[in-house]
Amino acid sequence: PLVTTKEMFKKAYEGGYAIGAFNINNMEIIQGIVEAAKEEKAPVILQVSASALKYANPKYLIKMVEAAVEDSGLPIALHLDHGENFEICKTCIDLGFTSVMIDASKYPLEENIKITKQVVEYAHSKGVVVEAELGKLAGVEDEVKVSAREATFTDPEEAYEFVHKTGVDSLAVAIGTSHGAYKFKGEAKLDFERLEEIQKKLPGFPLVLHGASAVMPEFVEKCNRYGGKLEGAQGIPVEMLRKAASMAICKINMDTDLRLAMTATIREVFATKPEEFDPRKYLGAAREAIKQVVKDKIVNVLGCSNTI
Ligand code: G3H
Ligand code: 13P
Ligand code: NA
Ligand code: ZN
Repeated sequence: PLVTTKEMFKKAYEGGYAIGAFNINNMEIIQGIVEAAKEEKAPVILQVSASALKYANPKYLIKMVEAAVEDSGLPIALHLDHGENFEICKTCIDLGFTSVMIDASKYPLEENIKITKQVVEYAHSKGVVVEAELGKLAGVEDEVKVSAREATFTDPEEAYEFVHKTGVDSLAVAIGTSHGAYKFKGEAKLDFERLEEIQKKLPGFPLVLHGASAVMPEFVEKCNRYGGKLEGAQGIPVEMLRKAASMAICKINMDTDLRLAMTATIREVFATKPEEFDPRKYLGAAREAIKQVVKDKIVNVLGCSNTI
């Protein structure tokens, strides 16, 4: 059966590594991730956004994840990514998800605490764990001054208050990462001092890093080589991710790198084998590319191979 993240986070915290949380929305993505985790003997979190749930139909998605659990025998958690209100969290809990994220980070602190607490109460009554978010992820597109942007980074004092008042199981922090393929215009920078302050305030408590794709240059280049247009795409350097994983960060979210691997691979097939029209030829290649990316993440970013 699906598991919660309790045990995996405890071991990850103590072992100085992190668990990969990868976004899913179709069969090939699920299979690529799970085959990689199986070969690396690593636990894994499959996460679904509200739009992915709508795209794939929850009934199909859940059956495929159940098949992945049965087929792999791995500890797998099924997690709602960025649930924006109580209702979507409740829906996913009732559907059998083992973990949900309530992201009320756009609201003022008191409101965020109130909404998160409501989700925690319901989730815990059903044996489901909850991730919340405090602070806002920096967006490279935001034309705001660094000082203004830093004001939206997670405040360590507030993090302590938030965790104790809500009873949440893990917390996503804002230390300079952002979603998507365009994370930095200039030099990449994460606020590790802030991360250290947060973990000092909350010893033993698992933290989560969103927006953690490396935006792997090989796939950006391949996309561009075969007709794509991804100029100036830049992600988080691998050494920084590795450092975060060695600290209190126990869950690292990656979606963009899988999207890029899939798209680059399909573009390559289309460009180099124009006579091909069997979807299995390009989706199969994409699945294999995703598998290789996830293996690379497990070994070189997360450090969680051979942990089960
Ligand atoms: O954090 C966002 C994830 O990459 C999912 O994005 O809402 O387009 O599925 P999505
Ligand atoms: P990336 O866009 O960096 O892959 O981040 C994904 C994420 O945080 C999903 O919640
Ligand atoms: Na860690
Ligand atoms: Zn995210």
